[in-house]
Amino acid sequence: MTLLESIKEKASNAYKHIVLAEGEEERIIRAAEKVNEQKIAKITLIGSPEVIYAKCPDAKLDGVDILDPNTADLSEYAEVLYNLRKAKGMEREQAEKLVKNGLYLGVLLVQTGKADGMVAGSVNSTGDVLRPALQIIKTAPGISTVSSCFIMVMPEGCKYGENGVLVFGDCAVNPNPTAEQLAAIAIASADSAKKIAGIDPKVAMLSFSTKGSAKHELVDKVVTATALVKEQAPTLNVDGELQADAALVESVGSLKSPGSSVAGKANVLIFPDLQAGNIGYKLVQRLAGAEAIGPICQGFNKPVNDLSRGCSVEDVVNVVAMTALQAL
Ligand code: ACO
Repeated sequence: MTLLESIKEKASNAYKHIVLAEGEEERIIRAAEKVNEQKIAKITLIGSPEVIYAKCPDAKLDGVDILDPNTADLSEYAEVLYNLRKAKGMEREQAEKLVKNGLYLGVLLVQTGKADGMVAGSVNSTGDVLRPALQIIKTAPGISTVSSCFIMVMPEGCKYGENGVLVFGDCAVNPNPTAEQLAAIAIASADSAKKIAGIDPKVAMLSFSTKGSAKHELVDKVVTATALVKEQAPTLNVDGELQADAALVESVGSLKSPGSSVAGKANVLIFPDLQAGNIGYKLVQRLAGAEAIGPICQGFNKPVNDLSRGCSVEDVVNVVAMTALQAL
């Protein structure tokens, strides 16, 4: 069984309720059909039934709920939104208008317990998808930073990571994390590696330096973050700062970081900022032909996940399954 098949099977056993906020988008409608047919999750599509069936007249959506923001009574959600954001200056009229936006309504369905998780991003930017969730759902207790990771599944025969499976973080959310945020990204990515990819995490804090080979304030940030991870998660197998080759290649790792239980064996790679992380995962995806599963958002109090705007129907199905697993 492949990793994705196992994720879908676990999601199906849990049968959670996931809201798809961009319900009028054709790929989303087709994904809802597949998720419903394969019984991976209960789905609510946000959108107008007329538009949905005009786009996909043959769609088999028996068992899928459709919530039309233009006709439904949304006063309950407007009230919740207003109460949550009034201290930040939100007016009641503004809340009444915002709940008609599928991204806000989807997050509010999750916040009020009507659904277990939300997926969007096929036609909206990452920032627009995450902002309502950051404002309304917020972070889980004890967590201050929402971040993301990708599960990278390398082509068959790859000797790196855990039989070719690696977790990369953060590749989608925090543009310039502080050392504290970088530590939070590492701990959350290790947790996702365990819970979603099913791997025992060996976390490498990446830099352009290995164990003091270069001196720079950018390196100092990674060194501080590594120390914070060791302090906050003392049982986690982590090492840093490491260059990518020292993290992945046994011979280089043992030379540059002798005695390390991570160097040369890393399966969770933590990038020092979003430029490195985003470029890094896209290079591995395109040049090495890896499958990039994600981005998986980590740290929210309830699961919300972002899609790439280039996503396929199958990508949406996969992200729905992962969201359902996070809701467990
Ligand atoms: N963790 C926790 N809370 C956060 C975070 C975070 N990482 N970022 C912002 N917040 C909180 C803020 O404190 C604020 O809370 P409050 O309003 O209750 O006080 C709330 O979220 C909204 O903050 P804003 O400042 O309005 O949001 P911001 O404009 O900073 O947007 C965002 C946050 C959307 C995550 C931004 O950092 C961003 O755009 N990141 C890059 C996304 C991106 O473009 N990624 C690359 C493409 S993705 C891909 O290729 C797969």
